[in-house]
Amino acid sequence: MIDKLEYTNKHELIFLDQTLLPLKEKYVKTKNYKDVVDAIVELKLRGAPLIGIAAAYGIVLGVHHYRTENRKNFEIHFHKVAESFRNSRPTARNLFYAIERMSRVYDENSGKDFIEIEDQLLREADAIFDEDVEMCNRIGVNGADLIGEKASVLTHCNAGELATGGIGTALGIIYTASKQGKDVFVYSCETRPLMQGARLTTYELEKNGIEFDLVIDSMAANLMKEQQIDCVIIGADRIASNGDVVNKVGSYSLAVNCAFHKIPFYVAAPGSTIDFDITSGDLIEIEERDADEIREIRGEKITGSVPVMNPAFDLVPASLITAIVTEYKVHYPPYNFGGVKQMFQSYIQTIRKDEE
Ligand code: MRU
Repeated sequence: MIDKLEYTNKHELIFLDQTLLPLKEKYVKTKNYKDVVDAIVELKLRGAPLIGIAAAYGIVLGVHHYRTENRKNFEIHFHKVAESFRNSRPTARNLFYAIERMSRVYDENSGKDFIEIEDQLLREADAIFDEDVEMCNRIGVNGADLIGEKASVLTHCNAGELATGGIGTALGIIYTASKQGKDVFVYSCETRPLMQGARLTTYELEKNGIEFDLVIDSMAANLMKEQQIDCVIIGADRIASNGDVVNKVGSYSLAVNCAFHKIPFYVAAPGSTIDFDITSGDLIEIEERDADEIREIRGEKITGSVPVMNPAFDLVPASLITAIVTEYKVHYPPYNFGGVKQMFQSYIQTIRKDEE
């Protein structure tokens, strides 16, 4: 398993800088929560579940390295730290899921001494991390049933080890199917503009011994026409209760192409990605990123100061999704996650108990 992030007993966070992969494996060590916020903004730490885990540990760092005798100031500081993580990226539900859990633990313990509060917060961050590892494993097992004995799977962006606490979601299914002895070949889309598919997915497919070809994003439709794709599997940043999915920009066009070519289009994500309380994907905020991400490649200008649109994600309507794989089961349309919120929450309790 790739070591992507660790909170040490010296109260520092060590994480792999994903912007430098695959050319450099550089670990960053920090005691300052603001570095973690910046790392999320700059995509050194990325992928919906991983940024939730990073924010949880970032909050622990923020609390540990703050010195005050005054309870009111401590509380103001906690909320300031949580707020800066909330403002780091708007789209991935997992980030807010983690911050909500940390805030709940803070509220439940706010009367205790500072060391005890910090201890409880660290336990919660560890629980968020451990649960994500287990959710990935269960998604892998549930999703592997959808993969044939010999299959070509196309994926987009990186929804693997680097994006989660565990083996990944979309890629976790591929790793699990491969471990079961299935012959899986992957087409990894490059994922313009920041190349998570080219840089990160190929990096981890190589490490996991999975055969693949890297393809440019605009080749996907033609591969489908040539009958080289058995299914598409992607991850998700946020899923609405009606099954609409927001994921890396380019996901929508893959789903449209799958519908046209009658190829199954699967989404894999844990319950922590589901926004049970929103009814439609249209209500999900899509992050708009810096124009220079399009105008430049690795810091080199490829255009002048031309006008740019750079949404990080797009919306795949539920009607284009064949199935959504969670740690609980494989869900088929019509999706109604609002109606199963309690079920997911109690399932997470089960995962917790299994681990204890
Ligand atoms: O901008 P990124 O690299 O954080 O985008 C990541 C994705 O879109 C992933 O597909 C998604 O977070 C799911 S990760 C299991």
